[in-house]
Amino acid sequence: MSQSSSLQGNRKLRIALSKGRIFNETLPLFEAAGITPAEDPEKSRKLILPSTEPDVEFLIVRASDVPTYVQHGGADLGVVGKDVLLEHGGEGVLEPIDLKIAQCKLMVAGFPDTDLNSNKRFRVATKFTDCARRHFAQQGRQVEIIKLYGSMELAPLVGLSELIVDVVDTGSTLAANGLVPLEHISNITSRLIVNRASMKIRHSRISDILERISSAIN
Ligand code: ATP
Ligand code: PRP
Repeated sequence: MSQSSSLQGNRKLRIALSKGRIFNETLPLFEAAGITPAEDPEKSRKLILPSTEPDVEFLIVRASDVPTYVQHGGADLGVVGKDVLLEHGGEGVLEPIDLKIAQCKLMVAGFPDTDLNSNKRFRVATKFTDCARRHFAQQGRQVEIIKLYGSMELAPLVGLSELIVDVVDTGSTLAANGLVPLEHISNITSRLIVNRASMKIRHSRISDILERISSAIN
């Protein structure tokens, strides 16, 4: 048995965060809850950062990987956008707190003259392939989904697709590229998620953190 797995029983509580927007907007909430990283993740190359609480550490992971770490117990808690959670499916994770940060909307977008009611089989470029498939299937519309990992707004401009599915906040990225929002899929905020097994095994410590974060939001 490896050293890390032999320490599972009494290892530190792990919180998975992504750098950038989620980290910046989550930090004040964790600060109010009395837990802050001992190092700045924007300056450090370390992926495990100790915190001011001796029994808690932060894992720095890519935004779209947060649910996977929490589902499989690599992290006990995580902060993730609802868009990413919808795409992941939420298997094996609890979603006890809406942090009400990183607010945006998951939308279908395209050129302003797009007629969504036409019988055309639209091509839809997105990193949210399952969300997009579900959305169009619910409406009985046949589409071709094209998987991208970013810069979705580029796809219609170069003829890769007629539509995109992406998050929209101010709409300025769409506007800068001559696109408009066409259909709303879901309102998005970031959620605190918890591994189901951790919630049972470390119930009192996790409940304490959840309570402190809830009060910080309120
Ligand atoms: P990855 O690196 O895995 O591709 P990402 O680049 O989308 O992830 P961020 O840009 O940090 O990661 O976004 C994290 C979350 O913030 C998203 O999942 C979404 O919920 C929210 N978000 C994304 N863009 C915006 C925006 N423009 N305004 C507000 N919230 C946003
Ligand atoms: C996100 C998203 C859109 C943009 C929407 O990109 O992918 O492109 O924000 O925000 P707006 O409606 O306010 O313009 P982000 O800025 O996170 O860059 P990314 O593509 O690196 O994720």
